[in-house]
Amino acid sequence: MSEFSSPPFSRQRQRNIFTGGFRGTKPSVPTSFDALEAEAKAVMSQEAFAYVAGGAGTGSTIDANRKIFNQYKIHPRMLRNVSQIDTSVQLFDTLLPAPFMLAPIGVLEMAHPQADLAVAQAAAAEQIPFIFSSQASVDMETCAQTMGAAPPWFQLYWSKNNELVKNFVKRAEQCGCQAIVLTLDTTMLGWRPQDLDLAYLPFLHAKGIAQYTSDPVFRKMVEEGEEPNDDQKITLQAIRNLVKMSRDYPGSFWTNFSTKRPLKAVKTFIDTYSRPSLTWDELSYLRDLTPLPILLKGILDPEDAQKAVNQGMDGIIVSNHGGRQVDGAVSALEMLPKIADKVGSETTVLFDSGIRSGSDILKALALGADSVLIGRPYVYGLALNGLDGVRKVIQNFRADFELNMGLSGCKNIQEITANNILGDNISS
Ligand code: GLV
Repeated sequence: MSEFSSPPFSRQRQRNIFTGGFRGTKPSVPTSFDALEAEAKAVMSQEAFAYVAGGAGTGSTIDANRKIFNQYKIHPRMLRNVSQIDTSVQLFDTLLPAPFMLAPIGVLEMAHPQADLAVAQAAAAEQIPFIFSSQASVDMETCAQTMGAAPPWFQLYWSKNNELVKNFVKRAEQCGCQAIVLTLDTTMLGWRPQDLDLAYLPFLHAKGIAQYTSDPVFRKMVEEGEEPNDDQKITLQAIRNLVKMSRDYPGSFWTNFSTKRPLKAVKTFIDTYSRPSLTWDELSYLRDLTPLPILLKGILDPEDAQKAVNQGMDGIIVSNHGGRQVDGAVSALEMLPKIADKVGSETTVLFDSGIRSGSDILKALALGADSVLIGRPYVYGLALNGLDGVRKVIQNFRADFELNMGLSGCKNIQEITANNILGDNISS
C-alpha cells in the first residue's frame, strides 16, 4: 500500500459535492464531460473553442477515439475486499497518486488569462504531472517555479534549428523537468475546418509562442531572420492586430510596434517550429543531448514503437493527437494493445486521445497503458474557473477512476488487466 491508498479519495470527493449541495452549492465545474464541454463552450470565444475542440477534416478520428472506448465493456468482479484502493503508479522516478497526467496543450491563454500558470499550480496542488507545451502561453521557467512536488515534463517540437532544440532541452533540464516528450505527429498542422472557417490561427497573433520569445536562441533567429512580407494589403484589422501584439509581446510597446518585432517573431516561429524532414536516425542527436527519459508521442503502429525502443527511447505515447491531425486515422485505443504487446515489457507505454472519464482510464490501463494523458477536459475546467476549475477536473477524474476500479474488483493498479476486467471480447 502506498501513501496514496487510504482513505478512499472518491468517498471524500463525493461527500464534498453532496454536503455542498446540502448547503446550497453546486459543483463549480460539471462532472460529466458533455456538460463540462457545453459549459466551457458558453464562456469561451468562438475561436478559442474551435481551436480546443476542433479536429481534423470530417472529425472522424475524434469520433473513432470515442466509439472504441464504448465498445470495450468492463466485467466487474465481486467480493474482492476493496476497502482500501491504491491508485498510485510509479512512472520513472516518481510515485504518482493516480495513473494520469495533464497533456501538453498549446495556447492556453485562449481558455483563461492565467493559462499554463494556473494549470501548473493546479497540477502541483493535486500532485499530478503537467507536460509543458512547446506552444505554451507562459514560459517553462515561470511554470516550473510553481510546480512544487509535482514533476513537470517538457513537450518538444523539433525545430528546423537544432540549436533551438538543444536550448529547449537544456532549459527543460535546468527548470526541473523530469522527462522530454517529443511530438512526432505534428510536423505540419492538420486540416482543421473549425479553425479554417473562422480564419483564425492563434500563433499568427503571437499567442502560444512564449517558450520561443523567452529563448535567446530564438530571439537571435528573429533578429537575423527575414522581414515579414510587406506586400500584403494593410487593413484596419491588421493594424489593430499589430497594436495588440505589440502590447502583449515582451519588451516596450513602441519598439515592438515600430520594428514590427512581433510579426517577425511570428514569421520565424511559423517557418521553423517543426521540421517535416525529420527521420528516425536523427533521434540519436536528442538521445545524446540529455540523460532525461525521452518519450515519443504520436505512435500508432507497433513497428514504429519498436523503432523507438531501438533508438534508445524510454517510452512512447500512443496517440493520434486527439483526432486533430489525420482525418480517418485509426483510433489510438485500437492500437494500444498491439503496441503494448510489442514493447510494453521493455518500455513505458502511455496513452492519449479520447480519455473522458475514470472508466476510460481503467480500460486504457487494462489494455496495456502504464498511465494516460488527459487533454481537453482540463482545458474546459480552466476556461470555466481557472486554477480551481483545473483542480476540480483532476479531482473528479481521480475519484471517478478510483470508484470504477474498486467497483470492478481491483484494489491496486497491478490488478487492472484485460484478463481480470475486460474478459476477451469487444462488443460492436
Ligand atoms: C498543436 O499541438 C495543436 O494541436 O494545435
